[in-house]
Amino acid sequence: MENMIPHSLFVILEILAYLFVFVVGISALWIVILYLIDKAQTKHAIRHNYPVIGRLRYRFEYLGGFFRQYFADDREELPFNRAERNWVYRAAKNLDNTVPFGSSNNLTTSGKIYFANCMYPTPDKDAVAPEKVTIGPSARQPYRHAPFFNISAMSYGAISKPAVQALSKGAKAAGIWLNTGEGGLASYHLEGGCDLIFQMGTAMFGVRDERGRLSDKKLEQIAGHDQVKMFEIKLSQGAKPGKGGILPGVKVTEEIAAIRHIPVGKDAISPNRFPDIENADELLDFIGRVREVSGKPTGIKLCVGNFNELADLCTAVEKRGIEAAPDFITLDSGDGGTGAAPMPLIDNVGIPIRESLPLAVDMLKRYHLRERIKVIAAGKLITPSEVAWALSAGADFINNARGFMFALGCIQALRCNKNTCPTGVTTHNKRLQAGLNPEDKAVRVAQYAQNIQREVGIIAHACGVKEPRQLRRSHARVVTDMGKSISFGELYPDVEEAE
Ligand SMILES: Cc1cc2nc3c(=O)[nH]c(=O)nc-3n(C[C@H](O)[C@H](O)[C@H](O)COP(=O)(O)O)c2cc1C
Repeated sequence: MENMIPHSLFVILEILAYLFVFVVGISALWIVILYLIDKAQTKHAIRHNYPVIGRLRYRFEYLGGFFRQYFADDREELPFNRAERNWVYRAAKNLDNTVPFGSSNNLTTSGKIYFANCMYPTPDKDAVAPEKVTIGPSARQPYRHAPFFNISAMSYGAISKPAVQALSKGAKAAGIWLNTGEGGLASYHLEGGCDLIFQMGTAMFGVRDERGRLSDKKLEQIAGHDQVKMFEIKLSQGAKPGKGGILPGVKVTEEIAAIRHIPVGKDAISPNRFPDIENADELLDFIGRVREVSGKPTGIKLCVGNFNELADLCTAVEKRGIEAAPDFITLDSGDGGTGAAPMPLIDNVGIPIRESLPLAVDMLKRYHLRERIKVIAAGKLITPSEVAWALSAGADFINNARGFMFALGCIQALRCNKNTCPTGVTTHNKRLQAGLNPEDKAVRVAQYAQNIQREVGIIAHACGVKEPRQLRRSHARVVTDMGKSISFGELYPDVEEAE
């Protein structure tokens, strides 16, 4: 028998045996070393009390972020649950988005919204497409735009090059706008040929002079791009009111540093306020200057914290005349998203859109500014029912950021601030970006936008109106603490009707 096995095989087996003993020995030695390190250190109680094995806690904690989404209940997770994410994924892929058997949406939970259908829904032949809305009628170049669902601000920096390229191309295909976010204008924004809203954050990236103040010359240059249709002055963002933009140093690449005129690799923290804007009058001055120099509609973005300040702004407009008003107000929600924010701000500062939108719309009505100032709402409005609610509450347009991130392939890994986004959406790591093909994802971006508008239309027709912008508060109902619903119109009575 022995003679039948070649000598060389014995040699290989012997080497493998030695190797095995060596690997086991090294591993055992490594475990002993880790044990001694863990026992000796006193910084981490778990590692000290449960040497070696306690280390797994950190690994599981890290992996939990990725795995949670596969095991949690369909309606359980935050910021977005699986039911919401899946709807977006399927809409973006243009897959059948019908649901079998029955709803998993518990309509007895306090705060839930549903719609009051009518006995005689709008027949298909009577349904009409949303009309164009004019923003900034007194600007030299007013902007007329029909689609009510558009892409919210996300800077090139917070999101990656292929992500911006896909958004730009997808926006063009769907005929919607793309907001540049506060990181300035990159060639990737222009690439697809879509309409752009140029956002000016407190650091005024792209339009600032050497001293960090607004440069009229640079503003003119940006406005010179035909694609740039409007300017948005960002006073605050729902995820971090009171704090300027934050781009962690690890995401400040050479190219991004060049666009923003900041040092490579260093955290880019924008000031928490515009240096020249301290009150309503100064804000109107600034808006007037941007509109005058650019010739294009100019508005503000904010997350409301105090309605008296909004009233002050309306009073200041009243004094100066209606033309001085911001052309639009983008209302961001206290639970809005971000690339990076301090936890107390992301969790507990700023009024959520559910409350701020109807109150802000009513405030504008009280000052007879509702027609003049268009309202754009943002904040977790990623599915048709949420968008339909915002329209019924009084928004003219909806801006959406994270829904479009899902359309780009985001899996809610919550890594936007780390440059390690596994889907390439918020990282500048080329290896991780490789899976995000701008051409493919542009199609998904466009399909998501188109499907959401189509399905908001379905809700509108069920409520008996011809198009989504005709939805009114009386079409929505909200579930109260008692599990009973009341009309949203009763909760927030229409100001004009009341007067
Ligand atoms: C990755 C990321 C980057 C963002 N960057 C900006 C920005 O540059 N400027 C801004 O005003 N808002 C920014 N936002 C906020 C969004 O524009 C939006 O207001 C907010 O996320 C609420 O919308 P959503 O719930 O549809 O995401 C960002 C959000 C995300 C998720």
